[in-house]
Amino acid sequence: MASSPEQVSDALVFFGATGDLAYKQIFPALYGLVRDEGLSTPIIGVAKQGWDLDQLKGRAADSVKAHGGDIDSDAFKKLLSLLHYVDGDYADPKVFTQLRKEMGDAKNPLHYLAIPPVLFSEVASQLAKSGCSKNARLVVEKPFGRDRQSAEDLSRILDEYFPENSIFRIDHYLGKEPVQNILYTRFANSIFEPIWNRNFVRSIQVTMAENFGVQDRGAFYDEAGAIRDVLQNHMLQILASLTMDPPTGQDHEAIRDRKASLLKAVRALTPNDIVRGQYEGYQDVPGVKPGSTIETFAAARLQIDSWRWAGVPIFFRTGKLLPVSVAEAVVQFKKPPRETFCEIDSVGSGHMRFRIQPDVTIALGTRVKIPGDRMIGDDVELILTRQPGADKPPYQRLLGDAMHGISDLFTREDIVDAEWRIVNDVLGNVAPVYRYKPGTWGPDEAQLLVGRDGPWLNPKRA
Ligand code: BG6
Repeated sequence: MASSPEQVSDALVFFGATGDLAYKQIFPALYGLVRDEGLSTPIIGVAKQGWDLDQLKGRAADSVKAHGGDIDSDAFKKLLSLLHYVDGDYADPKVFTQLRKEMGDAKNPLHYLAIPPVLFSEVASQLAKSGCSKNARLVVEKPFGRDRQSAEDLSRILDEYFPENSIFRIDHYLGKEPVQNILYTRFANSIFEPIWNRNFVRSIQVTMAENFGVQDRGAFYDEAGAIRDVLQNHMLQILASLTMDPPTGQDHEAIRDRKASLLKAVRALTPNDIVRGQYEGYQDVPGVKPGSTIETFAAARLQIDSWRWAGVPIFFRTGKLLPVSVAEAVVQFKKPPRETFCEIDSVGSGHMRFRIQPDVTIALGTRVKIPGDRMIGDDVELILTRQPGADKPPYQRLLGDAMHGISDLFTREDIVDAEWRIVNDVLGNVAPVYRYKPGTWGPDEAQLLVGRDGPWLNPKRA
């Protein structure tokens, strides 16, 4: 039976409790949910690590401390009191009998699979056999599959055990305040819509840069690469928010419907549309296979086949060990149609800039006259808003929503499929991988991709 939205989940089970994601995101989110939102259901971690509950509590303390929480607070003590732990192999039915016991009286639990997708089907079937899936919600982490076909297979398997409206597919970028602000700014004002199309927009650039490497995630990353890791999901979600049509009607699926139809209109990438790079030193990271050709940098040229966007070049760029950690989208407007002040070739053309990370900035770039006798000007930016990073971490927002059955900030099966369709033909070694030096903007070949529609706009730290 499908869970109804008003029913709040009465137990939170998370698989992969001893893993990297739990440490970096889930414990801080749970702490926030207990502190700010009074979460008081049993929280059951499951993993195969040979740990006991005290070890998990120690891990929770380390995680919360490392993320700025106060482990002497009442909230943290309450979190510890809610925590349970089940250890064992996901293929072993005894693990799930134990889990059912730890869930106590819970009648509509939420199961969060923070584990590699190859394990999803085993866990889903064991949840069903043990009775743990009855009236339950299922939250699944990205990457959802490895390509279009495997994502489709995975969906079919999950559908056997959970109705579609009980499955919550996480893309944590949707839980970020600035990503929601793109939609808000576009559709809470009427001035943007008339210019938000091929008649006024020259190009769009989305950059998601990180100034650190793959850290201790070598084994995971070497199976993924930048295209699967962030381009297929986070970056395409940003693009969908930037370019979708305005939602219509009151149906709560209106926004996701528009995103889905936008993503279905994005032309599938071919090897000529991408440049792949790998930073020097990547091969020395523990877990990376010798001679790996996985990309830690990707640049892509996309096109949307719609009346609104036909012919507007869209450039994506993402990478590890780039000069800064910034995520930003810039919509560049066309230059004026004729020369009036003898400076048209040298000037900017106006833009809207949405900074998503680390701070939230929305800015409108225009040209204004410099005081003086001559008709010459300067590019300036009107900052519409600048806010520090969001107060609520995305995982806290998303897990809280999932507990309440609110699915608006989760992605959907057809959206995930549309995303895989776009990247499916550029996964793997279809294009050369070029080396780049840490601290640079990737291989020089990326410059050629933008050509006359460039240059790349390199975001700076504020
Ligand atoms: C994750 C990727 O989904 O997103 C990471 O697996 C990446 O490689 C991260 O670093 C970026 O998220 P954020 O919120 O730090 O921008």
